[in-house]
Amino acid sequence: MAAAQPVPMLDLKRQYQPLHEELLAAVGHVLETQQFILGEPVAAFEQAAAQQLGVAHAIGCSSGTDALWLALAGAGIGHGSTVLTTPFSFFASVSSILRAGATAVLADIDPATLNLSAAASEAVLNGPQGKDVRAILPVHLYGQCADWTAFYRIGQERGLKLIEDAAQAWGSEWNGVKAGALGDAAAFSFYPTKNLSAAGDAGMVATNSGEIAERVNMLRQHGMRRRYHHDEIGWNARMDGMQGAVLGVKLRYIEGWNHARHTIARRYHALFHAAGLVEAGPYPVHGVVLPHEVAGSRHVWHQYVIRTARRDALREFLAARKIGSEIYYPVPLHMQEALKCLGYAEGSFPEAERAAREVLALPIFPELREDEQQTVVSAIAEFLS
Ligand SMILES: Cc1ncc(COP(=O)(O)O)c(C=O)c1O
Repeated sequence: MAAAQPVPMLDLKRQYQPLHEELLAAVGHVLETQQFILGEPVAAFEQAAAQQLGVAHAIGCSSGTDALWLALAGAGIGHGSTVLTTPFSFFASVSSILRAGATAVLADIDPATLNLSAAASEAVLNGPQGKDVRAILPVHLYGQCADWTAFYRIGQERGLKLIEDAAQAWGSEWNGVKAGALGDAAAFSFYPTKNLSAAGDAGMVATNSGEIAERVNMLRQHGMRRRYHHDEIGWNARMDGMQGAVLGVKLRYIEGWNHARHTIARRYHALFHAAGLVEAGPYPVHGVVLPHEVAGSRHVWHQYVIRTARRDALREFLAARKIGSEIYYPVPLHMQEALKCLGYAEGSFPEAERAAREVLALPIFPELREDEQQTVVSAIAEFLS
């Protein structure tokens, strides 16, 4: 029986403690050089980031949301275009499409991976909504790539752009290719809870296209190619120097952190099996359905998400024991008040709606201890007994 102890969902102080001297030196350099917006710390981060991902261009920006908008707009998606994406993601996956001036259509998710289903996407593309679709925006949810073999084929067959929402997936891979290097362009978020995180809001676009990179760079600074000459309506979406400096330090550690997340995920699997709680899935009955890992992909375990039938009661039970958990996401995007304009209703995407009722993210971060994981699994076992 594991000791009763609080377990945080995420404790960023544990990451900061061993790095604080390096981080303070990097931030101190920004203060000494007064390079607050873009500048050398951001350029150095962009270069190292591009190298790590194996892409030609990395463009730092102000948030993952802005990175999505920049990736779309940079790839020429705007008024008159339609983009296909998933209803089971963070709001920005859809709002950025609308912000780019395009229309969004949705297709249901694969119940095993909870990523956008390639089969459901093809069904939409073959239907009346399909004819205006110019791009697909799959989300690498929880740190596992969407089925890129299928989406690449669909993109090639139909001449569609592929934009990755890689906000949760720094370091993940599909058949040995890193997220960020798979599509025409990709968006990353460095929001503090992400596996690679800034000390505030920050994001990045990755692309192998020189043309897209040039447009993204222009759009992130008010559409300027020459100072105070505005070629297009861009936005202020620049990365600040502090974030570039912090990310430049953390980039050196992210591989190790992703390995640690992998070890923690393996340990959760083993603990749930040892407790006799595991069900085959994809749908839970009395126990726990573990996250499904696709062969050939590298999951970076940004989140460790189980499915369970009495999810809300379990979450309350854990909260009463001061064990953190989260629901990503409780309301599918087509059922959000702000997205009623898309014209969907409850029942439109049954897999996403069911997942929204059953998913529960458990504590996972590189410094999470084994005894803390035992506490989490013991508490879930107690609840389900
Ligand atoms: C899948 C997904 N897309 C987009 C975003 C937006 O990123 P940000 O919060 O940095 O704007 C996030 C993170 O919040 C996300 O998880």
